[in-house]
Amino acid sequence: MAVSRGGFFLTFEGADGSGKSTQAKRLAATLQANGADVVLTREPGGSIGAEEIRRLLVEGDPGRWSAETEILLFTAARRDHLERTILPALKRGAIVISDRFADSTRVYQGAARADLRTTVDTLHTLMISHEPDLTLVIDIDAKTGLQRGLARNSGEDRFEELGANFQQKLRIGYRALLTDFPDRCLGIDGDNSEDTVAAEILDALKGRLP
Ligand code: TYD
Repeated sequence: MAVSRGGFFLTFEGADGSGKSTQAKRLAATLQANGADVVLTREPGGSIGAEEIRRLLVEGDPGRWSAETEILLFTAARRDHLERTILPALKRGAIVISDRFADSTRVYQGAARADLRTTVDTLHTLMISHEPDLTLVIDIDAKTGLQRGLARNSGEDRFEELGANFQQKLRIGYRALLTDFPDRCLGIDGDNSEDTVAAEILDALKGRLP
């Protein structure tokens, strides 16, 4: 179910290093400059409790959690994010831009890290049960993404450290998403320059935002 009811829920998705965080920030700034009420948020995180869970997820050894435990932690973080940040903002009519949401779990835990899509979907139906109005999937060459991600050296590289093969699986998973949810998901070519990608995104939003 889409959650907008007056507001608009937009998510950015893509592999690590795809540039989605930069583009989410740019878009939020552009819309704000045009007078829109915009809430820019991210997952894992986006609320006080979810940011605490984030640290458990993105730091430490790549094998720290099993895929099943990860799904539970991501879902717990998402539930808090939804209750405390996303739904209240949409209720007052804001545009919510989230850097990642449930599609990340579908792709990372449901396809790339493990083949657990049924578990992911069941838990999503039980605990989240909301979909964005629009999802922009930034597609990028797997090697470029990995290089960009590791170059940041952010100390949050638990997933980047899973390697090139994993990065390729992510790309395939994200492409499958475009076919699974054609009404909601839109692919954006992330291999172009930052300005070109930003322009493509603004173009894609024409006529879709309230
Ligand atoms: P993020 O902060 O978006 O990292 P980046 O800016 O490098 O893209 O997300 C942290 C990591 O968590 C990222 O590697 C993707 C992963 N992740 C999942 O595996 N499942 C999820 O449901 C989410 C939201 C993120």
